[in-house]
Amino acid sequence: MSLKLGVNIDHIATLRQARQAPYPDPVDAAAICLNTGADFIVVHLRKDQRHIQERDLALLCKYFPGKIHLECSTAPEMEKAALKYKPFSVCIVPENPGEVTTTGGLKFTPKTNKRLLEMIEHLHKKHILVSLFVSPVAADIRTAAKLGADIVELCTRDYSEATSAKQARKLLQDLALASLLANELGLEVHAGHGLDYHNVLAVADLGGISCMNIGFSIVTRSLFAGLPTAVSEMKELL
Ligand code: PXP
Repeated sequence: MSLKLGVNIDHIATLRQARQAPYPDPVDAAAICLNTGADFIVVHLRKDQRHIQERDLALLCKYFPGKIHLECSTAPEMEKAALKYKPFSVCIVPENPGEVTTTGGLKFTPKTNKRLLEMIEHLHKKHILVSLFVSPVAADIRTAAKLGADIVELCTRDYSEATSAKQARKLLQDLALASLLANELGLEVHAGHGLDYHNVLAVADLGGISCMNIGFSIVTRSLFAGLPTAVSEMKELL
């Protein structure tokens, strides 16, 4: 059975915001992705709304119910947006002002855990599935399960930035063990960050992972190959 593919379309919105223009519209991109192999559409609503806008989230949730996977921080205004627009699922990620992209998994501290527990409870009350973006580390997977998450998304950033085959093998092993543990704890497992047409197969082959969330490589390939081809090629790999 092929893995599910979540296509992150943030950078369609990045291009639009570069000119503060009405296009390219992420809503159009979502329709194309879903028609050509994407199982889910992923968007990260950042506090600074530098790419995806609240308007995008509203329209995406309205037109593609059951298909929208929202990434956001624990900021109260993000929780408010999630509860208002009710995406199918929410992946809670760490977010720091000025970062180019998400830098890694959540850092679990007593203060963060208290806030996560509260936010997970609020999202569950609205029947929204909750994923936590985590490093492939046993302690973090156990914490995610204890906090009541439905899904863990394993951060593949370190793997995707590995500088040697030996390092990549070690990081793949960490991902495999994390996936196994998460499955044992009853969690669904996703993976994402930095995955592309070359490095995705090794992660897909690990087993236990049900969905890959991929953005930058697909959107950049679409500039040369077109969005339908970029999405369908990635889906074929999975
Ligand atoms: N998963 C999470 C939690 C992310 O924050 C991102 C980046 O927004 C991705 C997946 C997609 O990463 P990339 O754009 O590198 O494929």
